[in-house]
Amino acid sequence: MAGTRRRIRLALLFGGRSTEHAISCVSAGGVLRALDPDVYDVALVGIDPAGRWVALPDAEALAPAGDELPSVTASRGVSVVLAPDPTASRLLPRDAADALRSPAGDIDVVFPLLHGPFGEDGTVQGLLEMAGVPYVGSGVFASAAAMDKQHMKSLLRAAGLPIGPYAVLRAGQTLSEADQERLGLPVFVKPARGGSSIGISRVDAWAELDTAVKTARANDPKVLIEAAITGREIECGVLGRLDGPGAHASVPAEITVTSSAGFYDFEAKYVSDQTRFDIPARLSATALARVQQVAVAAFEALDCAGLARVDVFVTPADQVIVNEVNTMPGFTPTSLFPRMWEASGVPFPQLVDRLVQLALRDGAGLR
Ligand SMILES: Nc1ncnc2c1ncn2[C@@H]1O[C@H](COP(=O)(O)OP(=O)(O)O)[C@@H](O)[C@H]1O
Ligand SMILES: [Mg+2]
Repeated sequence: MAGTRRRIRLALLFGGRSTEHAISCVSAGGVLRALDPDVYDVALVGIDPAGRWVALPDAEALAPAGDELPSVTASRGVSVVLAPDPTASRLLPRDAADALRSPAGDIDVVFPLLHGPFGEDGTVQGLLEMAGVPYVGSGVFASAAAMDKQHMKSLLRAAGLPIGPYAVLRAGQTLSEADQERLGLPVFVKPARGGSSIGISRVDAWAELDTAVKTARANDPKVLIEAAITGREIECGVLGRLDGPGAHASVPAEITVTSSAGFYDFEAKYVSDQTRFDIPARLSATALARVQQVAVAAFEALDCAGLARVDVFVTPADQVIVNEVNTMPGFTPTSLFPRMWEASGVPFPQLVDRLVQLALRDGAGLR
């Protein structure tokens, strides 16, 4: 009987230490609104920018207040920890005095809605594995592999998937003349483990390279220099199958940027209203099939689970080149991942249900 079934105790984990803190809060707000309160008993667990975990009493941290971006304020909640002990798969109040008024408790599943390092990169996934708690999305390896653009490319290439030319600069290294010649101009300079286009520049003259590398290094000592790909920007959602192994692809979306930066930078992603999103993307039948096939193959090449958003370029000759794989794509009301699934016949609430069901089915540990 559905009415008497125990609700699923879901911990929504958001905020975090990365530069995408605010985006994560807005994403969590989107997911929270999609969760049916008759089915889910939701614990809101915020991680503040310093890394403090707090169980929050309400969703105030999840919405932008006026011009201010949302963020987790530790003083607004009860300080909690997740013990790496599978016999105590619960959020424990850090302070014994808090135990009585703690809203946290046993959890069935965690939705780690964190973007960037210390969240999307396998670190939190490792903690959840240790604690023996099922969680939404990819495991430790795929999360770490997708976060690091160098290793992501190595795995994609090993699987025979098309990627563009690039070079890696570790701390202190500079781009050799041979690499300058091989890559040509323009190039994109990016932090190896970044997101939301933070720290990324397009370089049209080699004289600008040093500044661009410095900007990227402010985020990550390891930097990628990529040849600019000429093509349309297409994104495709991938979702694990509930009726068996494997995954399938959504209808893709196209992003058209008209802002002065000339690429899909932070401004174009979250601020500008000049960015156009076409869902579904208008692609030839051949390109559509290729994008969806490459998206699922990239998901599998990295051993992803649950969900991923695979971003590609489609060249004028309808060639598909993978740009990146995101293991925890945005879930804000304007985010493409939920909108692409909506357009594919999976509305936001069903999408979230499906992700939780996949997490509960697969459990923690080797999947
Ligand atoms: N090699 C490239 N060629 C053309 N455009 C690129 C290239 N790399 C990045 N871009 C542009 O920069 C944006 C952000 O780069 P991306 O690698 O996706 O970083 P992030 O992980 O921060 O989203 C892309 O959406 C695209 O507009
Ligand atoms: Mg991107």
